[in-house]
Amino acid sequence: MSNSEADTPYIRPNFQNVPFWNPTKILDHEIGKHIHRMDLNECPYPPSPEVIAAMHSVAHTLNRYPDGTCPELTPLVAERLGVPQETITWGGGSTQLLTSIAEISVAPGQNLVAPNLVWKRFQGVYKIVDANVTAVPNRADGSIDVEALTNAIGNDTRLLICVTPNNPTGMMLSEDEIRHVSENTPENVLLFMDEAYHEFAIHAGGPNALEILKDRKGPWAVTRTFSKAYALAGVRLGYAICSSPEIVDAIRMVSSTFNLNGMAEAAAMAAWNQPEYTQFILDKNAEERARVEAGLRDMGYEPMQSVTNFVSCDIGRPGMEVVAAMRERGVRISTVGGDEFANYIRLSMGIPEDTDAFLKELREVLK
Ligand SMILES: Cc1ncc(COP(=O)(O)O)c(C=O)c1O
Repeated sequence: MSNSEADTPYIRPNFQNVPFWNPTKILDHEIGKHIHRMDLNECPYPPSPEVIAAMHSVAHTLNRYPDGTCPELTPLVAERLGVPQETITWGGGSTQLLTSIAEISVAPGQNLVAPNLVWKRFQGVYKIVDANVTAVPNRADGSIDVEALTNAIGNDTRLLICVTPNNPTGMMLSEDEIRHVSENTPENVLLFMDEAYHEFAIHAGGPNALEILKDRKGPWAVTRTFSKAYALAGVRLGYAICSSPEIVDAIRMVSSTFNLNGMAEAAAMAAWNQPEYTQFILDKNAEERARVEAGLRDMGYEPMQSVTNFVSCDIGRPGMEVVAAMRERGVRISTVGGDEFANYIRLSMGIPEDTDAFLKELREVLK
């Protein structure tokens, strides 16, 4: 049922008719069954025993509010990234930071510029800030058109959003493209790079957007996360590296003081100090991605050039129908979104057994 503004005048117009969709919901027919969960770009491997032990070790402190500035983790991250500690802030997943970054820069009605095809959550961010959004079409292959993006910046633009590698395409920007965005975004516009899949880009030999943005004269913010390459999606910890402490303070102001959970910092420190486990996750991911791509090609389909833990592919018929049929068969995958990509599916990499199940069931569904 849809509400009109007259029915719910106590809800702001931008939040009218926004039905909640729960991505993690387990359907009745899935309860108690083994499900191949390949729809949310999660890491299929659990946190390491050391990370679990670190969480145990702080469990007895959970009656207290944690220090959301992560005072022990921040120096470690700052040192490895070569940035001042005061330019790092933390969020309940980088999802929280996306909203906070938009909130601190764009007032209702002001303009933000973003690629049309980006992670679906950005649609929610646009509603929250009630911005005037210039959605710049992606190129026909799904990649971000950086020239069109910076050409779309107007006098009223306050924020430019870029995602590399991007979700749902899995494609990354080249060093030259990131430099183009950095150099052609004016100094009165906050340049925001979502690098949730940064570790995967580096593993694939790609550029480090943060390093390139460090040369930028104007303001910038880069977000990264412990959810993907560090196997900690359930802990909800992401971070923003910003061009100045003023941006950090503004983000903290809108993200609330007690926005982290009390085990996140200990878990993340243990994961950060165990690069060999991250390497294992990235290596295994690349192996399964190669198997998924080969399997799709074998069926006559050409997947997008992903460097991430997910792959999107044109399967020549409505993605929504295929996603529903696969879910009936115990394999959860997702659509890509956007009318021009209606015939695409997206799946996250799992363990080898998930890849086997995906390829087997897809062959059946597409018969
Ligand atoms: C592009 C992108 N950014 C950010 C996120 C959010 O990750 P988290 O909130 O777990 O840090 C995701 C999650 O899938 C994503 O795909």
